[in-house]
Amino acid sequence: MNAAPWLSRRQLLGASGIALVGAMLPAQWADATPGETAADGFRLLRARAGEVKLRGPDQSATAIWGYDGIVPGPLLRVKRGEEVKVRLVNDLTEPTVIHWHGLRLPNAMDGVPHLTQEPVAPGQAFDYRFVAPDAGTFWYHTHFRSSGQLGRGLYGALIVDEPEAIAVDQDLLLVLDDWRLTDTGAIHESFGNPHDAAHAGRLGQYLTVNSRDTWDIPVRTNERLRLRLINAANARVMRLRLDGHRANVIAIDGQPSELFDARDSRVILGPGARIDVLVDATLEAGAKAPFVLEYGRDQELMFARLAYAGEPLRTAPLGDPKPLPANPLPERMDLVSAFRLDVPLDGGAMSMMMGGMMGPGMGPAPGLGGINPQAGMFWAMAGRSSTGHSEAPLFQVKRGRTVVLNFPNRTAFPHAMHLHGHHFRLLDRLDDGWKPYWLDTVLVEPRQGARIAFVADNPGKWLIHCHMIEHMETGMTAWFEVT
Ligand code: C2O
Ligand code: CU
Repeated sequence: MNAAPWLSRRQLLGASGIALVGAMLPAQWADATPGETAADGFRLLRARAGEVKLRGPDQSATAIWGYDGIVPGPLLRVKRGEEVKVRLVNDLTEPTVIHWHGLRLPNAMDGVPHLTQEPVAPGQAFDYRFVAPDAGTFWYHTHFRSSGQLGRGLYGALIVDEPEAIAVDQDLLLVLDDWRLTDTGAIHESFGNPHDAAHAGRLGQYLTVNSRDTWDIPVRTNERLRLRLINAANARVMRLRLDGHRANVIAIDGQPSELFDARDSRVILGPGARIDVLVDATLEAGAKAPFVLEYGRDQELMFARLAYAGEPLRTAPLGDPKPLPANPLPERMDLVSAFRLDVPLDGGAMSMMMGGMMGPGMGPAPGLGGINPQAGMFWAMAGRSSTGHSEAPLFQVKRGRTVVLNFPNRTAFPHAMHLHGHHFRLLDRLDDGWKPYWLDTVLVEPRQGARIAFVADNPGKWLIHCHMIEHMETGMTAWFEVT
């Protein structure tokens, strides 16, 4: 048993004793997960109850909800331009849907209850069929009673491959989640409680990677790894650090970025976000390089490590990587004639809105509904508290119009603002220059702001919401229409 220093810190955070399992994941983590395919070519995804050993092989299993009963759900993998054909079969006891996070797909396939489709009742099925327009790391998840359904594990990864494979030796998926577990390892049933909703959202005390306690990733000297990181947590902002290696960012939120080395090999992922990094394995056999979550004040928790073994794969690392091939994103944005809107973010604990400004329209949440709709409304966007479809659109624009949204965060909490159906640019604070990457979810720090710009080129009704799920379900949701 390794007495690494992180172990005691982990026990502080953890709900129960932790075994250092160092489990190796099955090799198919890089490959599409085999499953049931119907005669008409649709891949079945059954939303159902299951059991997963989140706390290591020696601990009791946790009852979860997952696609095909596993968490993360089956890894779906197609090439750019290929069709995704998925039949959601609802084997749960309540309605559900699938939303394809970050996919620029036709509106009818977006999986938003009442806005783009009716929820799929227990025993019913729904066919999702669309062409994957962009190569990259994406994910799919429930969008119905999300605090409970996402919190119980209804999500999975969708990898869309570049037309030509890039040169890497291992292509690895790391789906991170934090779970709120009881002492016996069961999921804590406190979904939708008002305290979480009015603060940072539901934070779990138990961190997993691909639903494992920790993962020793076997590597050989001079290998090149592509790590695809996904933050699937309901609300936790993940601040990650890889020790002893450079982390070369190649894609953010699925879209290729300009290449850059992450400062101090740290990356930050708000809920819903993805980052792809290339890592050249430059240490010697026997070395172990931790990958940690930084949290609280100076605390950290290891969730994976690069475990060197065997002969070097080659005599020197590969040369400088090339950027990923571009996806067909809009080439121009017309900022001069853009539609501009201020969308201040308000509410939450320690705010005016909580101090007696709960006006009309801030009653129990209808629509997308929390698992406990009585939680009430704690948050507002642009002065309105909504859970989605039940209000008028936040704005309507003609197809092709450039839109600039300004999100001043007047609350005491960060918010991960997510746009459906589009990727956007983050604008500089003082002028309309933009950062050299695309996002579908932007983390807006408290008392700060973010301005984003995008071409509204995808017709339909699209959600715009905070991806801290408990904020989304208590007011921080709106929609816009591209006509
Ligand atoms: Cu990850 Cu509204 O979505
Ligand atoms: Cu939020």
